[in-house]
Amino acid sequence: SWTMHNFVQKTVEEIKEKVGDRKVLCALSGGVDSSVAAVLVHKAIGNNLICIFVDHGLLRKNEGDQVESFFKEKFNMNLIRVNAKERFLGKLKGVTDPERKRKIIGEEFIRVFEEEAKKLGKIDFLLQGTIYPDVIESGTDEAAVIKSHHNVGGLPENVEFELIEPLRQLFKDEVRKVGEELGMPKEVVWRQPFPGPGLAIRVLGEVTEEKLKIVRESDYILREEIKKAGLDRDIWQYFTVLPNIKSVGVMGDERTYSHTVGIRAVTSTDGMTSDWARIPYEILEKISNRIVNEVDGVNRIVYDITSKPPSTIEWE
Ligand code: XMP
Repeated sequence: SWTMHNFVQKTVEEIKEKVGDRKVLCALSGGVDSSVAAVLVHKAIGNNLICIFVDHGLLRKNEGDQVESFFKEKFNMNLIRVNAKERFLGKLKGVTDPERKRKIIGEEFIRVFEEEAKKLGKIDFLLQGTIYPDVIESGTDEAAVIKSHHNVGGLPENVEFELIEPLRQLFKDEVRKVGEELGMPKEVVWRQPFPGPGLAIRVLGEVTEEKLKIVRESDYILREEIKKAGLDRDIWQYFTVLPNIKSVGVMGDERTYSHTVGIRAVTSTDGMTSDWARIPYEILEKISNRIVNEVDGVNRIVYDITSKPPSTIEWE
């Protein structure tokens, strides 16, 4: 639109002016805000924007490769991908408490980011995808705390960055419009929210490769079917969880004792409250059949029908 076009022009000029030929660092997650911010700044200063993408091994199926190829190939950006799965899984070994998991992942994320940043020499600016709701609810609020997980709230103490926050005055829908104005594809701009700690908080209890695989494969099937049914824009978030319980089932003549997978799908406008999405039975049936048939180690599917409050959207 005309307004977004102007916003982009004006912001690009301002960033050029401010940064000159110095360097800007950015932590890219693939989420809407950080992605739009990065593409915008890249438009202004090109390869003087350096993006670090920490792949903690807790992303959805194919996500790491998609994020990497999107920014490198489509936008020709200066992106460093750090494959740190082993590190994160090592730190998470034996940990079952949800808040400890979050804390460990958040801290490790900063550590990895910091190590990479140190290799780059002098950097003057740090780009953050802060948007207006993060600004007004800053400090103690949930949204700000959430942001800090992914957008690297605490940073290397010995390094002084000046912050660049080009989306600071925009609401989410405006950020999406800016993304579209910048030529970003709809799948990226309309991506559903995904938590910084990733699948680690969708595997209840201890995180293992085996459990991650179940949640990743089942989530992929769910997303595929929701998209096929044309429901992806109506549902705020939709994903599977692994409640970490096994139950008895039967397959052929054999008794099985395998995992239960939960389907979580909610409608919401801001994530602060939500209702469970009324996915049509036929689609649920298809999802259930496919997961049980295609994902090893699963013999039961349940559907979460609680709103927030009293539940949260995530199970941990
Ligand atoms: P809950 O589960 O609290 O989630 O109803 C509200 C929204 O926040 C997301 N979420 C997180 N995002 N780090 C994040 O970056 C987190 O630790 C985290 N926990 C929840 C959740 O996906 C939903 O969109």
